[in-house]
Amino acid sequence: MEKSYNRLLENNKKWVAEQLEIDPNFFEKLSNGQAPEYLWIGCSDSRVPANTITGTNPGDMFVHRNIANMVVHSDMNMLSVLSYAVEVLKVKHIIVCGHYGCGGVLAAMGNQQIGLIDNWLRHIKDVYRYHHQELDAIADPIERGRRFVEVNVMEQVHDLGKTSIVQNAWKNNQPLHLHGWVYDVHDGLIKDLGVNFKNTKDLHNVYHLD
Ligand code: CO
Repeated sequence: MEKSYNRLLENNKKWVAEQLEIDPNFFEKLSNGQAPEYLWIGCSDSRVPANTITGTNPGDMFVHRNIANMVVHSDMNMLSVLSYAVEVLKVKHIIVCGHYGCGGVLAAMGNQQIGLIDNWLRHIKDVYRYHHQELDAIADPIERGRRFVEVNVMEQVHDLGKTSIVQNAWKNNQPLHLHGWVYDVHDGLIKDLGVNFKNTKDLHNVYHLD
């Protein structure tokens, strides 16, 4: 029986040949190290591949993905990625990119118990509680879900700003912009939510770390 994963290995060989045709030094250049300008924090959803939807190449983007593109300040995985991206790679932009129809966000809007993942979804429920007045006022559950995806992204951008990692970069005058985007799986387009944090002043006083 042919194994479906063999297709992936075959594709890899084809991809290598294609890259070498475009640039014979492609892999040699990449093997010398990385200097990406962007850190991407996105959803694990298979329909939202960071490089593909942004037309970027290997070496362009440092990537962290989890369910519902969350920035949870006790998540060692996220903190390690953020610390390395900001302090070592010195990325200039951090993009939190959510997506409409996000299963994690929609599950957090409901009440069904799923299992272990409920612990992760609870962080998203907290976002609902902060924005419940706006969200509860939207009668159409689809529209409410879309808005919930947007406010969740904006909260995650805030959560990035609250970290000492980001605030110390700003304190050292390291250029670092935080962005909030949402990808639409229906048409492939990314919407910029217009949140653009550049320094500690963009955060509420209570989060300032001196
Ligand atoms: Co998702």
